[in-house]
Amino acid sequence: MLKIGLTGGIGCGKTTVSCLFADLEVPIIDADDISHQLVQPHQPALQKIQSTFSEEFILENGQLNRAALKKYIFSNPLAKQQLEAILHPLIFQEIATQIRQLENAYCILSIPLLFETNSQALVDRILVVDCDELTQIERVQKRDNLSIEQIQKMIASQASAEFKKNNAHDVLNNTKNRSDLAKAVKKLHNFYLSLSQNYTTHTCDFPDYLRIST
Ligand SMILES: Nc1ncnc2c1ncn2[C@@H]1O[C@H](COP(=O)(O)OP(=O)(O)OP(=O)(O)O)[C@@H](O)[C@H]1O
Ligand SMILES: [Mg+2]
Repeated sequence: MLKIGLTGGIGCGKTTVSCLFADLEVPIIDADDISHQLVQPHQPALQKIQSTFSEEFILENGQLNRAALKKYIFSNPLAKQQLEAILHPLIFQEIATQIRQLENAYCILSIPLLFETNSQALVDRILVVDCDELTQIERVQKRDNLSIEQIQKMIASQASAEFKKNNAHDVLNNTKNRSDLAKAVKKLHNFYLSLSQNYTTHTCDFPDYLRIST
């Protein structure tokens, strides 16, 4: 199965693009969704987070206090590494499991930090969603109610837009309106369908280092 890695900067439109592909009945595997599911109450990953970090990151209802943990790891590189060591192998294992269950021509793997986690080898092709930085900041501000400074810090903590575009096979520019984006997605969909004819469905070929023992 042809695997398209979808990535792009914060707020550039990854989720919006995923929805447009889903409308075309393309299966979407979303690393963000998976990471949210992994830290639900009673999940082993949440228990590991609880024992590695302080109890203060668990709310009274047993849910992870995402905002507090996100803030903590943002200014603590070691904690960020520890958190990634807990979550990344589990995320990639779940991605591999979901791929094995599919029989479609191609699928979209939405991995926001595809470059930052060096996961390029997991996919056959990389699709970057991009938009100009002012639009990006405006959209995130409207959606998340954050200050411009906070958003700029988040953008600066990710691989640059230039790097992402230079290392993509395909780029979707999402600076304009949604209907332009939908047209561009439809065009890419037809292209991916034609490419997929050269791929045969095979078992997932993730490298061994991404497998974890259970
Ligand atoms: N073409 C567009 N025109 C206007 N608003 C848009 C457009 N594309 C996306 N948006 C809006 O911009 C915001 C960010 O888009 P979206 O959530 O798809 O980005 P994302 O890359 O998934 O963000 P994140 O990195 O936070 O997951 C959303 O509120 C979305 O509705
Ligand atoms: Mg998103």
